Amino acid sequence: MCGVFGYVGPRREIGPAILGALKALEYRGYDSWGVAVPADGTIAVQKETGKIGGASVNLPPATRGFGHTRWATHGGVTVENAHPHLDCGGRVAIIHNGIIENFRPLRAELEARGHQFRSDTDSEVVAHLIEEFLDEGCTLLHATRNAFQRLHGLNAVIAMSVDGDELIATKSMSPLVVGIGSDGSATIASDAMALQGFASDLHYLEDDEIAWIGAGEIAVYERDSLRPRSVSLVPLPLEERDLSLNGHQHYMSKEMAEQPDVLDRLATQSEPMIRELARAIEDSYGTFLTGCGTASYAALTGSYLFSRIAAWHVNFVVGSEFKYHEHFLRDRSFVLALSQSGETADILEAMRAARQHGSRLGALVNTRNSTLDRMADLSVHLDAGPEQCVLSTKAYTAKVSVLLMTAYALAGRAMEGQLLVSRAATAMREMLAPAWVDRVRATAEAIRDANHLFVIGRGLSYPTALEAALKIKEVSYVHAEGFAGGELKHGVIALITEGTPCVVYAPNDETRADIISGAMELRSRGGFMIGIGSENDPVFDIFLETPDVGDASPLVQALPAQMLGYHLALLRGYDPDKPRNLAKSVTVK
Ligand code: G6P
Repeated sequence: MCGVFGYVGPRREIGPAILGALKALEYRGYDSWGVAVPADGTIAVQKETGKIGGASVNLPPATRGFGHTRWATHGGVTVENAHPHLDCGGRVAIIHNGIIENFRPLRAELEARGHQFRSDTDSEVVAHLIEEFLDEGCTLLHATRNAFQRLHGLNAVIAMSVDGDELIATKSMSPLVVGIGSDGSATIASDAMALQGFASDLHYLEDDEIAWIGAGEIAVYERDSLRPRSVSLVPLPLEERDLSLNGHQHYMSKEMAEQPDVLDRLATQSEPMIRELARAIEDSYGTFLTGCGTASYAALTGSYLFSRIAAWHVNFVVGSEFKYHEHFLRDRSFVLALSQSGETADILEAMRAARQHGSRLGALVNTRNSTLDRMADLSVHLDAGPEQCVLSTKAYTAKVSVLLMTAYALAGRAMEGQLLVSRAATAMREMLAPAWVDRVRATAEAIRDANHLFVIGRGLSYPTALEAALKIKEVSYVHAEGFAGGELKHGVIALITEGTPCVVYAPNDETRADIISGAMELRSRGGFMIGIGSENDPVFDIFLETPDVGDASPLVQALPAQMLGYHLALLRGYDPDKPRNLAKSVTVK
């Protein structure tokens, strides 16, 4: 959560460029933003609440500075709580990502020594701690190291003082990547994406490192000893560069439309890694799938796919609960974490727990070089391209595709899995055509004023129902819940009143007869029935027909819910790319 960006180099008016870079990081949080540059013996700061939008920077010219885009954790969404934060004298500024778990005692201690706080954040303590160490005669590098050592939790900090042409950065789990530009500049950000246009080569900071960033040069040290480390530069990945909307109004619609190509690519190019993943599962004594949010529903779908296709049992545990199940882990366990960003704190914590048990770590990850990618013994890259919309769409179907093909590979029928994913890609292409889009838009029109909505599915469609409800509620703010079709009669049905929209997944599989019966029960109580499947039934008021692709049905079934959520958001006047209170990369617990 929170995006940070810093620059030191030859550009003379760096404020606007910092703001531009922050826009690429807004997916990490968009409650408020701020930029700081040194100016006349003090640090000039501009902070505002809300998204960056068309804002501009009005700060003195400077060749060095940094900025922050915030997802609030401690302290409300106010200008005072926006970063950067200053020390008492306004000579030190910091930006921070993470949660300082011991900020209360630190703040009490600092206040007792006379420090004046201006915000309610946990972050501000860092500026005051650095101030004290500087007053004792430390360099900014030493002062930042000393301050960081006092913090508990997973944090990333960048510090700047009015003196010296430098920035100092260090981290523990929260990601930071340092960039070197060919023009004599050096940059740092939470994500390589923000470094495009600035850097050509990158160094991913490790958890025990601290970086000194000067104009066109960087130095990296082991944090505790301050012994120099070698800087291992890798080129800025090419795929980080394409952030265009490609003719779409929003990233969400662009990313939904990219799904057929992503799936086709996986079907034709991923065979070696799928075989390796299948082997890791086969060799393990117990496989665990884990993920958060949308990734958790992809993982749950995987557990159904492994069961029905390969008769193979895998355990599913949602990421934030994983550590409470770690007692089952052995050195022969295989833990496969699913993550678009590869930076989700709950997932990284789960992986650390698994590592302590000596288990083998696998990653199904979209962002190359992310913390998860670097941590895993075996990484399968989704290569779906950058996902900018806060809602995950193409990374979800990419993960499900890989799991589907892996289940087929485990069953010794790898080719069948690939063909199914290709068929699903073709089907999704048909569903992205204007006639289908109009049908979804009309469905959204019919339910645009709903307050509640329910989604049901059985078997393989159950996790899809959960994912569909998540997609709809997070983007349109319609309260949507997904349920296993068979659970309705055990309580949920009490919530159905005249006109309540009910989305029913009714594919042509073994769940069909039972789910149609459940739909009848809902209709008898006044439910407005929306069916999704390959064969209509009189119980439905609206039917969205999807091509029959057998075991690949979770792929084609995901798309109508994505599209419905998108059109509901537009009709209700919301920004589908940045829903309220959310962030794409959740790097706090
Ligand atoms: C956030 C996002 C979700 C995403 C989840 C897991 O909550 O808003 O869209 O599914 O994090 O993210 P990951 O990057 O680990 O897949």
